Amino acid sequence: DTTTATATLRADQPGETVSRYIFGQFAEHLGYGIYGGIWVGEDSKIPNTRGYRNDVVAALKALDVPVVRWPGGCFADEYYWRDGVGPRGERRVKVNTHWGGVIEPNSFGTHEFMDFTELLGTDAYVSGNTGSGSPREMAEWVEYMTFPKDSSLAEERRRNGRDQPWAVPFFGIGNEMWGCGGNMTAEHAANVHRQYQTFVKVPAGQKVTKVAAGANVDDYHWTETMMRIAGKHMDALSLHYYTLLGGWPPRAHSFEFDEAAWIGTLKAALRMDELITKHSEIMDRHDPEKKVALYVDEWGTWYKGVDGVNPGFLHQQNTLRDALVASLHFDIFSRHAERVKMANIAQMVNVLQAMILTKDAQMLLTPTYHVFEMYKPWQDSTHLPFELETPEYRHGGIAVPAVHGSAVRGKDGKVYVALTNLDPDMAANVTASIRGLQATNVSGRVLTAGAITAHNSFDQPETVKPAAFDGARLAGGTLTVALPAKSVVVLALQ
Ligand code: AHR
Repeated sequence: DTTTATATLRADQPGETVSRYIFGQFAEHLGYGIYGGIWVGEDSKIPNTRGYRNDVVAALKALDVPVVRWPGGCFADEYYWRDGVGPRGERRVKVNTHWGGVIEPNSFGTHEFMDFTELLGTDAYVSGNTGSGSPREMAEWVEYMTFPKDSSLAEERRRNGRDQPWAVPFFGIGNEMWGCGGNMTAEHAANVHRQYQTFVKVPAGQKVTKVAAGANVDDYHWTETMMRIAGKHMDALSLHYYTLLGGWPPRAHSFEFDEAAWIGTLKAALRMDELITKHSEIMDRHDPEKKVALYVDEWGTWYKGVDGVNPGFLHQQNTLRDALVASLHFDIFSRHAERVKMANIAQMVNVLQAMILTKDAQMLLTPTYHVFEMYKPWQDSTHLPFELETPEYRHGGIAVPAVHGSAVRGKDGKVYVALTNLDPDMAANVTASIRGLQATNVSGRVLTAGAITAHNSFDQPETVKPAAFDGARLAGGTLTVALPAKSVVVLALQ
């Protein structure tokens, strides 16, 4: 069974730069996200470099991760940076009240996080504590990290093993102030933002992007109020939207589901487009020059945790469905490149829509990982309009576009086209006429599998992985693609 879609690719109308930061990650002190997933400590039998798992670091390096947000999330508003510096054996041990009630040993602290970012070659996005910490604590943390020498805090950092200051290119002024970050009203949060950000200062020659805690889903009043009261005191405003099937609390199964859950999840993911559009309209009114960026610094699927793991650990499987959720998001973020300058998937390892799952010494790459890898050419590319005329794929009263996609000109000069077929049964013949490009050669890769629930397990870690794709032809300015059902295809044209 095959359906047809047509498209026009406007290589003659280059648009905005698609920021590499839309491929950002988020690593919270939550479940096995950091402890066990990234950090095993120097004495572990699991092969490691200064305590970081070698397998995980190598896999992440291959993604060219542009930025990692840390230490939360909700954890950030219960985090006291002083607990996590100094000799590891002497650090304060506390309870992670938010995530599973487990012991937080603080063995992964500021030095371990910043060292990790250097190991990965990525930028640091540190979230401060406005919920239960003071402006002074926040100011001192930033000074500890960024001041070169002579101040007591800079000297303390040096005594703790780090001579040179670190760069902190991104700093979050709290997280979800409307909820776990302090249950504030929008008006109150906007004033708290103004106050705390005043004391976030870096030495001359350094730049810190100050990120305000933004709205939950469609809370447009929040965005309106933040922009009105605090818009002149921020560089970016965040937005959190999770792909949730069946509402809150998360109850859908992550790897045993039917077609209704497949289409319902994809429909929920596509809502990101509407949310960004509406939040951007509000920002445009207050900030027509687009000085304040929109950072979608938490996104991804959120299902019921897998059986046998502390439900507070948010540990879920990752299927072909999650791969499609990721590709749809990247298409949407690329289309909104003029305002969306960062996005951080929740979360990097073992938590929610993770890139990587680990079990003791074993590691696997999820279908979501592979989409991040396939979309690497989008990092700092130029957006190209890609106008798609597609039939709908319908099931059980829900309708979504059958085909979704985006196109960019990569930094290497090649044009790249991504196509996702949301229909689990029907292949799609896509015919795209291309303007402004003399390309004769097309090559690509496809991510698909036999079942919508296909996933990688520790026994079969390569059930879902990219393969070479030979279903595309390029002739006379027309690209034709035989897009398999339930697939993501990325093509390079040159
Ligand atoms: O990513 C899990 C949690 O979701 C984060 O800690 C919080 O910010 C959000 O509610």
